[in-house]
Amino acid sequence: MKIDIMTLFPGMINAVMRESIIGRAQDKGLVRVRAVNIRDWASDKHHKADDAPYGGGRGQVMLPEPLYRCHDALTRGEPVHTVLLSAQGAPFTQEKARQLLAKGRFILVCGHYEGIDQRFIDACVDEEISIGDFVLTGGEIPAMAVADAVCRMVPGVLPDEEAFTEESHWDGLLEHPHYTRPETWRGRAVPEVLLSGHHANIVRWRRKMSLLRTRRDRPDLYAAFRPRDKQDRKILAEIEQGT
Ligand SMILES: C[S@@+](CC[C@H](N)C(=O)[O-])C[C@H]1O[C@@H](n2cnc3c(N)ncnc32)[C@H](O)[C@@H]1O
Repeated sequence: MKIDIMTLFPGMINAVMRESIIGRAQDKGLVRVRAVNIRDWASDKHHKADDAPYGGGRGQVMLPEPLYRCHDALTRGEPVHTVLLSAQGAPFTQEKARQLLAKGRFILVCGHYEGIDQRFIDACVDEEISIGDFVLTGGEIPAMAVADAVCRMVPGVLPDEEAFTEESHWDGLLEHPHYTRPETWRGRAVPEVLLSGHHANIVRWRRKMSLLRTRRDRPDLYAAFRPRDKQDRKILAEIEQGT
């Protein structure tokens, strides 16, 4: 998996993406997340990458030419799927992460200040992705969220596939709660079933917790959920009866 992140602040990306699980995956050569400094493609001696907006108003707008030259140097004329991080984009989801994973390589473009010149978007961007209905100072944190979500699904990055297929949002549900030592912590005990050693009961309990949590916290997901087997149908019936 190769991800190039076009940014005015490569230090932000490197500080995060070279640490922890993704950092180790990069060391092993499983993924490559490269921060590319847009300013390096500015033509003037001050490496100017933004200017005042036409039509007036506050803030700065990122110039199209350094963006274009940077993008062109990365793609070398080949079609490379290009994503702009934008508060106006389509909401980022696990499904979108899976689609990007399937591409094998893509470019993420980080806006900053007021955003970037629309003509670069029209010329080079394939899709716009938002990480939520709020506005951040720049696209770097959203780009890292996207890169992390994609890279952790690359084989070998996590110990096994279950590490991500059994988590929230993989099959449209929130995950069950987790517990570790001690058995009782400040008067709060671990649910007994988890200490029973009875694997089938533990699996069933976790599935029920997952469904209960989804119903409580994300009724939108719960309404869209379809049971995958007989056990799901039985658990759903229990939940609806309150048992
Ligand atoms: C201050 S924002 C610009 C907001 C823009 N003027 C608007 O009203 O839509 C600067 C940059 O941060 C990034 N950004 C901010 N919020 C985001 C979000 N929720 N998801 C993805 N990117 C975001 C985008 O790259 C954006 O160009």
